[in-house]
Amino acid sequence: MKALVLAGGRGTRLRPLTNTSAKQLFPVANKPVLFYGLEAIRDAGIVEVGIVVGDTGAEVRRVVGDGSQFGLRITYLQQEAPLGLAHCVLIAREFLADDDFVMYLGDNFLVGGIQELVAAFTGADYSAQLLLTPVDDPRSYGVAQLGRSGQIVGLWEKPDEPESDLAIVGVYMFTPAVHEAVRAIKPSARGELEITDAIQWLVSNGYHVHSHLITGYWKDTGRVQDMLECNRIVLESIAPRVLGTVDDRTQITGRVVIEQGAVVEGSVLRGPIVVGADSKIVGSYLGPFTSIGDGCTLEDAEIEYSIVMNHSTVRGVSRIEASLIGKGVEVTPAPQTPRTHQLVIGDHSTVRIRG
Ligand code: TTP
Repeated sequence: MKALVLAGGRGTRLRPLTNTSAKQLFPVANKPVLFYGLEAIRDAGIVEVGIVVGDTGAEVRRVVGDGSQFGLRITYLQQEAPLGLAHCVLIAREFLADDDFVMYLGDNFLVGGIQELVAAFTGADYSAQLLLTPVDDPRSYGVAQLGRSGQIVGLWEKPDEPESDLAIVGVYMFTPAVHEAVRAIKPSARGELEITDAIQWLVSNGYHVHSHLITGYWKDTGRVQDMLECNRIVLESIAPRVLGTVDDRTQITGRVVIEQGAVVEGSVLRGPIVVGADSKIVGSYLGPFTSIGDGCTLEDAEIEYSIVMNHSTVRGVSRIEASLIGKGVEVTPAPQTPRTHQLVIGDHSTVRIRG
């Protein structure tokens, strides 16, 4: 059994952060979302992993390396353009050879691992296995409809009028039968080779596609609110530890992680929170479900339910909430007169200012 991890794509829904960085490396509780997937693959006993990369391939290669830090052997597969999930299978043909494989979307987060799912698939004679989970608004997902005996009868990619509320989770298991399917299908209206079309092809051609309803937590971290939610879920069960320095004017409640070299002075921290290595928190309030990256400075600031990436500064600003702040960002007050906002922000940014 091998794994194919998809870490290319456009990432339009997370612009402008994805203009310069791979979304699969965005931090959830200060660890790249991709790492959770690679660990789940490793824990399922898989060693050979192909990672599909696109424009941000150099960064993924640099951070993930040859996989030895995870106990994996990683082969990088360069996709010339984000031509769809099934296109990733097409370009991985040689790497996958005639092995069964797990296809894992690098921006997906699944609690509970995949060990049992891989074991069940290995022991069965299905051509493919899909994981499904009910969602509130299926229109932004791949959607499956099940027949009376639980078999898959239809699949749609981001349907306007969904036939069911069952979203397809971004962890699929395939036998080599899928290779014929990805060669047979044509690009969709949005110009991508859709994995839902490939699976539909398997179903229509009499292959047994098994579905499994998951009960655990799953998130596709493709949008800001999903990143923040995922961060919340991970922080909820984080083991507290203080490796940095906290002065006696600071009040800490709840689960808080303060990494090596971090300094917290005269602040209020209401966990769950992580503060990355070498960050400085002075005279500030950090509220629940906040992750502060490495080497950040927060001074006279209030922030809650947010993610701040490495080497960013927030000074003299209250209160920031539900925000995703990139690397090396500076958020500070404008001069009192004239009463203006001064913005230097990238293309496709979202800024919400209280008037
Ligand atoms: P998506 O999140 O569905 O697509 P995207 O990355 O293009 O994002 P957006 O819709 O916001 O523009 O992709 C799921 C995962 O698969 C993600 O980790 C990126 C990866 N991917 C590839 O590696 N190659 C591709 O051609 C596509 C479409 C996605």
